[in-house]
Amino acid sequence: MTHNPKRYTVTAALPYANGPVHIGHLAGVYLPADIYARYLRLQNRDVKFICGSDEHGVPITIRAKKEGITPQQAVDKYHELIRDSFRDFNISFDVYDRTSSKIHAETAGDFFKKLHAEGKFIEQTTQQYYDEKAQQFLADRYIVGTCPKCGNENAYGDQCEACGTSLNATDLINPKSTLSGAVPVMRETKHWYLPLNEYEPWLREWIVEGHKSDWKSNVYGQCKSWIDQGLQPRAVTRDLDWGVPVPVEGAEGKVLYVWFDAPIGYISATKALTDDWEKYWKDEETKLVHFIGKDNIVFHCIIFPSMLKAHGDYILPDNVPANEFLNLEGEKISTSRNWAVWLHEYLQDFEGKADVLRYVLCANAPETKDNDFTWKDYQARNNSELLSILGNFINRAVVLTQKYYEGDVPARGELTDYDKTVLADLEGMPLVISTYIERYRFRDALSELMNLARLGNKYLADTEPWKLIKTDAERVKTIMNIALQISASLSILMEPFLPASATKLRTMLNMPQGQWADAGAADLLQPGHTIGKPELLFEKVEDAAVEAQVQKLLDTKKANEMANAVVEPAKEDITFEDFTKLDIRVGTILEAEKVAKTKKLLKLKVDTGIDQRTVVSGIAEFFKPEDIVGQQVSILVNLAPREIKGITSQGMILMAENADGSLAFVQPSKEIRNGGTVS
Ligand code: 2FM
Ligand code: ZN
Repeated sequence: MTHNPKRYTVTAALPYANGPVHIGHLAGVYLPADIYARYLRLQNRDVKFICGSDEHGVPITIRAKKEGITPQQAVDKYHELIRDSFRDFNISFDVYDRTSSKIHAETAGDFFKKLHAEGKFIEQTTQQYYDEKAQQFLADRYIVGTCPKCGNENAYGDQCEACGTSLNATDLINPKSTLSGAVPVMRETKHWYLPLNEYEPWLREWIVEGHKSDWKSNVYGQCKSWIDQGLQPRAVTRDLDWGVPVPVEGAEGKVLYVWFDAPIGYISATKALTDDWEKYWKDEETKLVHFIGKDNIVFHCIIFPSMLKAHGDYILPDNVPANEFLNLEGEKISTSRNWAVWLHEYLQDFEGKADVLRYVLCANAPETKDNDFTWKDYQARNNSELLSILGNFINRAVVLTQKYYEGDVPARGELTDYDKTVLADLEGMPLVISTYIERYRFRDALSELMNLARLGNKYLADTEPWKLIKTDAERVKTIMNIALQISASLSILMEPFLPASATKLRTMLNMPQGQWADAGAADLLQPGHTIGKPELLFEKVEDAAVEAQVQKLLDTKKANEMANAVVEPAKEDITFEDFTKLDIRVGTILEAEKVAKTKKLLKLKVDTGIDQRTVVSGIAEFFKPEDIVGQQVSILVNLAPREIKGITSQGMILMAENADGSLAFVQPSKEIRNGGTVS
């Protein structure tokens, strides 16, 4: 779109209401979308920012089954949780709707009916995978197998998440039902297909020729490669009992494919928001932008646009700025492994610090490649960027204004060359930042915002008003005026990124909400205007706070290891006589000490009831000598003596090993006399 659009429709991918949202969601989709929408509003543009919960499809029914609740109960629960997390992170949707709503069923149903009536679908009866145990057709996430493109063994029936390829269940190699684990059989069923192959020439022209220079290279590259490989007809209906019923004759018991109904959810949510919804979807002068994660590219760039094109009444996306993925401490974020920072849990641990996470996730957003979130980086960015640069500058400006002028903005006197350069840099900043935002380069935009705070900090450090006040009070007025003008611009320019802090800063400066166009001016705060009291914008994040988060992840890792630990298969059978050869007794540890120059060995003196003897045991990594004296243990007393590190060890203490390699004594459950036999 080369001209100035009249209005904007900004959508953010509808998250599945099958679990809470985490930092990957925020960094990949909702934060960039929110920054963009907030920026447009500050530009006085007509914008509708649309989102809602995606409440259909197999992800929902699988979750409901796991929790032993109905799909409706599952979506009710997670819709609320997700909606509240977005609210608490100040994601400024104009509407957060849900696809289980009546208006959505009507909108999606009507969409299907129109395409059906106009002969835009192919109706086909084919053999599909069926699970005889579960008595159900298997589609989407109900079936896994090996991806024919990349070899990932856990590809779903509709998409391989490893390589992003969109699949049909029949493409999978070695398919397996996720419901019962059974190998599925083939059974006949009828479905409606959108013949994507027919849209291929048009898609090539629209994307490959038309969006080469303005779409992000990761998005463009994926689309081009799919189109080059050739597109296949795609089933848009499913044999499931959860979803929007297919509203045509002969489709009883079938529902729309979730990826058919979900993107229409953007339209239904806009309908729910305003009676004026049509101009946001049907007027060519509206700029439609879809914010998504990279796993959604095929659906938003190929399938949904083909649906819109087939329908004919709707505009197409102008851009689809998809992000790559965010990892957590070097590993892929995973809901099933609980390897995530959940947004609602973050706010329980870091109350009032939504902006800090927004900042860190934007500064490190996976815009061009997968990136890693670490708690160390979180702490460093808070302490040495937000606090030391932005917070420190604002604090100095406000505190000194209160101190020298009781909060009244002083007038500027004659300007030095340095003052003029600083004011010129300030004036140029809004354009620099907005240019980045309009190109969906939010990291660069944020980095420029911080450069403005750096500029302010440096200006104060160079001019040292706190020293000058004793010798040249007039000059200090100019310096403080300029510092306050920078602060005022910051309060506007930071609003899209750090909305809560921007509000706080405006209160401190006693300033109304400005427009983007106001920023950069040298007279945002007039001489004589009285500012408010200083308040800290950011606080230090202490080591203990991030250490606790790292520990939480370590605990998760341990729990996963335990849950997934492979139990060794049983050894070969032995006879009862073999077993009776082992003489195991209860004994008590009398003394324990570390064996010098070893890491693992403890020298123990054990009362076996028969005698008191020395045993060398490899347990030093798990037990402190002083903690085990007095403990009862099981000891194999007829093991032939062995020389270990120059000590004769007479017997072996029986230990049980956990999945993480840690050890515990095999002990009697009540006190037993020393020498008591274990059999
Ligand atoms: O990947 C997902 O989480 C999907 N629920 C996104 C849907 S986006 C839109 F099309 F609704
Ligand atoms: Zn693959």
